[in-house]
Amino acid sequence: MEKTEAKSKIQTLSLEINKHNHLYYVLDKPIISDGQYDLLLKELKELESIFPEFLLPNSPTQRVGSDPLPSFEQVSHEIPMLSLGNAFNDQDLGNWHKRISSSINSHKFEIACELKFDGLAVSLLYENGIFVRGATRGNGSTGENITLNLKTIKSIPLTLTGNPPSLLEVRGEVFIPKSQFLAMNKKREKEGLQTYANTRNTAAGSLRQLDSKITAERPLDIFIYGVGSSNSLDFNNSHWDNLQKLKLFGFKVNPHNELVKNLESATNFYKKWLSEKESIDYDCDGIVFKVNQINSQEILGSVGREPRWAIAYKFPAEQAVTKLLDIQTNIGRTGSINPYAILEPVEVGGVIVRQATLHNEEYIASKDLRIGDWVTVERAGEVIPQIVHRDQSRRNGSEIIFKMPSICPNCSAITSRIENESALYCTNAQCPAQLERLLEHFVSKVAMDIDGLGIKTTTSLIDNGLINDVSDIYFLDKNHLENIDRMGEKSINNLLDSIEKSKSKPFSRMITGLGISHVGSEVAEILANEFKNIDSLMNVTVEELQQIPSIGPKIAISLVDFFQKETNRRIIEKLKTAGIKTEVDNQNTKSHNNLLNQQKFVVTGKMENFSRNEIQNLIKENGGLVTNQVSNSTNFLIAGSDAGSKLNTAIENNVTILTESEFLEMISS
Ligand code: IVH
Repeated sequence: MEKTEAKSKIQTLSLEINKHNHLYYVLDKPIISDGQYDLLLKELKELESIFPEFLLPNSPTQRVGSDPLPSFEQVSHEIPMLSLGNAFNDQDLGNWHKRISSSINSHKFEIACELKFDGLAVSLLYENGIFVRGATRGNGSTGENITLNLKTIKSIPLTLTGNPPSLLEVRGEVFIPKSQFLAMNKKREKEGLQTYANTRNTAAGSLRQLDSKITAERPLDIFIYGVGSSNSLDFNNSHWDNLQKLKLFGFKVNPHNELVKNLESATNFYKKWLSEKESIDYDCDGIVFKVNQINSQEILGSVGREPRWAIAYKFPAEQAVTKLLDIQTNIGRTGSINPYAILEPVEVGGVIVRQATLHNEEYIASKDLRIGDWVTVERAGEVIPQIVHRDQSRRNGSEIIFKMPSICPNCSAITSRIENESALYCTNAQCPAQLERLLEHFVSKVAMDIDGLGIKTTTSLIDNGLINDVSDIYFLDKNHLENIDRMGEKSINNLLDSIEKSKSKPFSRMITGLGISHVGSEVAEILANEFKNIDSLMNVTVEELQQIPSIGPKIAISLVDFFQKETNRRIIEKLKTAGIKTEVDNQNTKSHNNLLNQQKFVVTGKMENFSRNEIQNLIKENGGLVTNQVSNSTNFLIAGSDAGSKLNTAIENNVTILTESEFLEMISS
């Protein structure tokens, strides 16, 4: 194909795909099948790969996520992102209405009624109709640049339609639909993973991923609820008009918004949605009322961060009163003893609740909960119900104070607390209940993905002494398995097959499978990429770990503690013997050797021939460790031109200083 022809084909395909995106994700009215849509996208991708010079950053193919960022940049909001004052009853709302009437000298003013979505506020900036920057609200004045993550949300237009002004910043709420959230949790439960607590935190966590490929996998959606700033005077009439204009530009605006003329109609809108909020597929925690005329909004202004012209009338959280019948504990895969409440079954917002989480001993003490108490249970969009308080007046003296068990309810080993953590732990690394949870996790889809090891089989293997730690899975043979109930020849063969296959799973899966506290699959991938092999990871220090973006102190301490334990080191050795992958695949990287023998390097200043990143990769490929700070454990500082304070620190600490070429010579030998 000719260049000019390709260019125009890329343009028409992009327009066509954008149109179908809008029909599907914004209007919920697709006119072609998913298959036809995929074909269009495939055609565009192919053309863009042959003619990369015509690939635009706002192409519909650019929604799949990009390389991970080291951190988010700060964004300052030219017009602050405000929050809202609350009304909790009709009287609060009436007072708000009165205040406005007297300020603008009229009780006749239109009110825009909108659902209040329970998600995360974002700002989207468009220049000449093209999405150029997206940010979180942050503290209202400064947020974080999350453009790459927002690009993955299909209901956010990358190119606007109609006649948008050359500068337009809109605001809206990112959320996860309830149905998608439930499906996500169901899947996680099946895979033996901890389920997410609620849609709001999951949406927030998804938007704050440095790796936008992870965000791309999350079912995020958005509703736009207003204009932030613009260089056009077209948005100065009324809020309602503005929303209609935003729709024409391709934004997703909630279809249930209504413009009303008086307080009574506003109250009716609230009542209607109080009873109907369960019928919509997103969490809605109240109604936002906004004075419609922009000039009235300007007269009213704001107090602090709260505009006088808008208010959020919150829905009451779903609550019910019931009796706390008992407090029991279960054991997590890290050995944590987790207390939970057994409740007299009660209906809360359409769901029968029998249990509630109690987190840990501190939580129980802070609420002074006793067995026999009458308690209020709340489900506020949360999947796991919480106890919010107890009723002192209904105590009769028979209530029993709960004590966390001093011995493990499963294996009777002594329990103990770890410094700075509120959880209590079973101290027996071989605790059968803990081992069961851990095995469940080790074989799950996110870890080694071994089929055929259900709970019952696992329990029998542990009871028969065939499995004492996760690595024993790899030393099972036919003879062992024949003695286990329910294991016929076929299921034995399938299981052994699946165990064998798991040996070729990537290194990060093994890290995930170890079940280290705070180290889930996302962190495991970061660690695998950073350390390349298990030996480097086992010998890392807390300080070195904390140099890695997205690894905080909790993760760092937990990892180092884990690898310090002799039992864990033995398990790793056994896993190595079994032949599972304990390093990253190297097909794509240069050969990996241990020339630099785990010595610690810091790189500073400008290099001549390489970027800093490339030098750091060279260090790692040759078996060295890279850290950011010079300390007395640093072996070498590679200093380029304009090296700053790190060079001085290195000289003071007698660290060997290398030039770029000295380092290259070192690894070429
Ligand atoms: S208007 C007046 N409209 O609620 C400027 N906010 O508590 C405030 N929210 O940070 C924003 N739905 O994240 C507005 N229809 C809606 C909203 C909404 C949810 C959130 C928004 C804001 C918070 C304020």
